[in-house]
Amino acid sequence: MTSSDTPPQKSWSGRFSVPVAETVKRYTASVLFDKRLAAYDIQGSLAHAQMLCEVGILTEGDFSAIQHGLAVIRQEVEQDRFPWTLDDEDVHLNIEKRLTQLVGDAGKRLHTGRSRNDQVATDIRLYLRAAIDQHQVQLRALQCALICLAEQHVDTLMPGFTHLQVAQPVSFAHHLLAYVEMLGRDRQRLTDCRQRVNQLPLGAAALAGTSYPIRRERVAELLGFEGLCRNSLDAVSDRDFAIEYCAAASLLMVHLSRLSEELILWMSPRFNFVRIGDAFCTGSSIMPQKRNPDVPELVRGKSGRIIGHLMGLLVLMKGQPLAYNKDNQEDKEPLFDTVETLSQTLIIYTEMMGDVQVNAVALRQAAQEGFSTATDLADYLVKKGTPFRDAHEIVARAVRHAESEGCDLADLPLTTLRTFSSIIGSDVHAVLTLEGSVASRDIPGGTAPTRVRSALQEARQRWDHAGE
Ligand code: ARG
Repeated sequence: MTSSDTPPQKSWSGRFSVPVAETVKRYTASVLFDKRLAAYDIQGSLAHAQMLCEVGILTEGDFSAIQHGLAVIRQEVEQDRFPWTLDDEDVHLNIEKRLTQLVGDAGKRLHTGRSRNDQVATDIRLYLRAAIDQHQVQLRALQCALICLAEQHVDTLMPGFTHLQVAQPVSFAHHLLAYVEMLGRDRQRLTDCRQRVNQLPLGAAALAGTSYPIRRERVAELLGFEGLCRNSLDAVSDRDFAIEYCAAASLLMVHLSRLSEELILWMSPRFNFVRIGDAFCTGSSIMPQKRNPDVPELVRGKSGRIIGHLMGLLVLMKGQPLAYNKDNQEDKEPLFDTVETLSQTLIIYTEMMGDVQVNAVALRQAAQEGFSTATDLADYLVKKGTPFRDAHEIVARAVRHAESEGCDLADLPLTTLRTFSSIIGSDVHAVLTLEGSVASRDIPGGTAPTRVRSALQEARQRWDHAGE
């Protein structure tokens, strides 16, 4: 951050007799963080200038001077040489001032028919559109990593839980595919949100539109916007598109937080279900035996921060009268942090899921220990004519007995089983095994390995593209 030697002239200073206080300057400036929008500000200005030239408001000479100046500025920004200064409060004024230094009066003409209010709304939309497109690619990669791991574990059986108590056996692949589904809906939400992000505010000017004969459709076309914001007051004041994005991001982080919580549990020696690669764990400086699942823990923690940003933006918006208010400048830090945190999280998560070792023996043992096939025995009895409520009672007694013997249902001899119900025959053991249990869940969405195999194939087809 540099300060120019000559006393700074604010671009709106003509109205004021006393220069703005240093403290106020620092308090109101956004350039320290909104400089992230520089590339989008330049992109928006180029389209605006081209349209102004096409309708005859700017001369060809001015337009090419602006193009040249903005190209220089783009390079300066990319190479970290741009002379950012707090004397110009935000990214827009910094770039405009620099452009005027570089190309003279043409730079001063660029702002014709435009206001920072519609300019900033346009910049954020361009920024967010690019972020969403990047998330789509990142989400696809994460889904692929989960699908790859799942493909190796269709026949790896584990306890499915309800209330964190062993419930029924499921395929480990089936469990992973649940997350592929969640991430798929996250992708759809982002795609849906993108349509509302991708509308052009420029032309709304400060709040009421502009008296210059500009062509908004042309600017939209040049910038790849799907349409125009239809009301100038709305265009400059609402940030609902950013809130929607943060809501989609929050849900996505909630999904990753749930998976993280499972990984953390599964990594605990009590479970010992999986091992996450060393690269994603840390040791303890005092306890030599420790391997801490730092990455999943941080993802779980960061989900709180993203949800916080969503709350912040909702509250930011709720008290604002139309149209633009300076409050809106506060939309940027939460939004930028959401985009950056989400991007980093998706990248690291994909790498981590590519480095998970699954302890199939421990998974199987846990499934066998929790009477996970008790429902199968009840279903067996029902299929042989016992009313379900009676079957439930019979099996509960059998479980109690097995528990007192310290064994699983499948370990009880047929003669013992028959003391609970004489309907039980020698075919019962087929349903009491883990394999028998999962194989019987042979309906769409069920955990039978044949179903899981086709679900995997379907998932590959459905999600293996960069769009929605
Ligand atoms: N830095 C401002 C923001 O982020 C840009 C728009 C300022 N407009 C204004 N009239 N003060 O919202």
